[in-house]
Amino acid sequence: MSAIKTESLIIRGENNVEMQKFVINGGNPLKGDIWVSGAKNSAVAILPAVLLLDVPCIIENVPDISDVKICLKILKGLGADVRPIGDKGDTYWISCKKVSDYYVPYEEAKKMRASYYFLGALLGRCGNAWAAMPGGCPLGARPIDQHLKAFEILGAKQIISDKASDIVELHAEQLQGDVISMDVVSVGATMNAILAAVKAKGTTIIENAAKEPHIVDLANFLNYMGARIKGAGTDTIKIKGVDKLAGNAGEGSAVDYRYPVVPDQIEAGTFMIAAAVTRGDVFIKGVIPKHLEAITAKLRDAGVNVEELEDEDTVHVFVKENVLFQPVNIKTEPYPGFPTDMQPQMAVLLTLADGQSTITENVWEDRFRYVKELAKMSAKIDITQNGALVHGSANLQGADVEACDLRAGAAMIIAGLAANGQTSITDIRHIERGYADIAGKLRGIGADIAKISPEKD
Ligand code: UD1
Repeated sequence: MSAIKTESLIIRGENNVEMQKFVINGGNPLKGDIWVSGAKNSAVAILPAVLLLDVPCIIENVPDISDVKICLKILKGLGADVRPIGDKGDTYWISCKKVSDYYVPYEEAKKMRASYYFLGALLGRCGNAWAAMPGGCPLGARPIDQHLKAFEILGAKQIISDKASDIVELHAEQLQGDVISMDVVSVGATMNAILAAVKAKGTTIIENAAKEPHIVDLANFLNYMGARIKGAGTDTIKIKGVDKLAGNAGEGSAVDYRYPVVPDQIEAGTFMIAAAVTRGDVFIKGVIPKHLEAITAKLRDAGVNVEELEDEDTVHVFVKENVLFQPVNIKTEPYPGFPTDMQPQMAVLLTLADGQSTITENVWEDRFRYVKELAKMSAKIDITQNGALVHGSANLQGADVEACDLRAGAAMIIAGLAANGQTSITDIRHIERGYADIAGKLRGIGADIAKISPEKD
């Protein structure tokens, strides 16, 4: 196997972003310790939530990913004072005292899905919000009707100046708590309802709420700062509105309010599968094993050993010699079900299993764009009505493939690590939206992976 001699070609910085790629020489069993960063889906909600605070705060364990950079840019654009602190690059001191604007810059909102959290946070802060319809991964129709329904129930009026416009503009004289019964279980709509309700008058009840760990994390953060949210993590969340979010010591105190973002369950799951497909032996550190239960259960069914070391915030993943991966049927569901964000990565493991597996995708309608890329690597997967049939026993071969979206890109990396020969992955900007230094982290446990960019002229 040829080592990649690419250090001189790696350009750090934002030049040639479109041309950057990951090159992987597959076949190395991953071994050692790997650390998980803070959760993307938590950080992208907690950072906008800082707009609701009446005191500065420090957010720790913030992942170094492009979606977070966009959030921080939007905050600064709105007038927030954002200062990186410490030497780990994952901690920010943020004060929103001088924020007087409520226009989220159009270009930034279009770059990521989570920009919609600025709608709830700005509405909760000042009763006004203006943003473009959010962008993000192409996973099929991504409506925000439940977000808008929640805002309207709380008393916001949506202004549509032009039917063709993709701008959401909201105004409320006074947000008033009420019962919000979600028609579908939505992570984003539940978070946005919390953001808008936390300073509303009276009590809000969110029924049919999503239960993801990042929803609990957002509620924990807001409660730490003085909110009164109960039931996060169940399907009914009760919020008593408060006038101020100024922590226990109150405004003007010298207390440093510090809150660490919860570990990223999807990044952890991605490393678990990378360890499995390479028949490695990896300790995935800084995790909450409970959040990984659905992934752990399916990996065990497939013949992978997973030990939960609760006291050490670690899961240990390894594959015994001569074990053949077993086929497993996967159905994606809201938490605590199997996460849709792990479906493409799991599909790679299933291409190696000894038999046929089925995947049923219940959350997103267009989450199989990665199938044609995996086919280039000799995987055999048939798309079915709302899922896929994965034929096992593939002998994955390195190929030139594309990261169609964030998790599809993670699946390409996993496939490249398991394949014979060299895999080159383009469009890695999708991957960098959600994984902090994934190549560096994987190199640390023995992967032969490099990020390459053509030299500047
Ligand atoms: C979040 C995650 C995303 C993950 C998804 C499911 C962020 C920024 N993104 O996305 O990575 O894949 O959860 O775990 O946190 N729906 C509606 N109307 C709405 C909202 C959603 O019909 O107003 C539907 C969607 O079409 C989808 C389902 O509800 O079928 C789930 O969507 P939702 O949980 O809202 O996903 P996001 O919050 O966008």
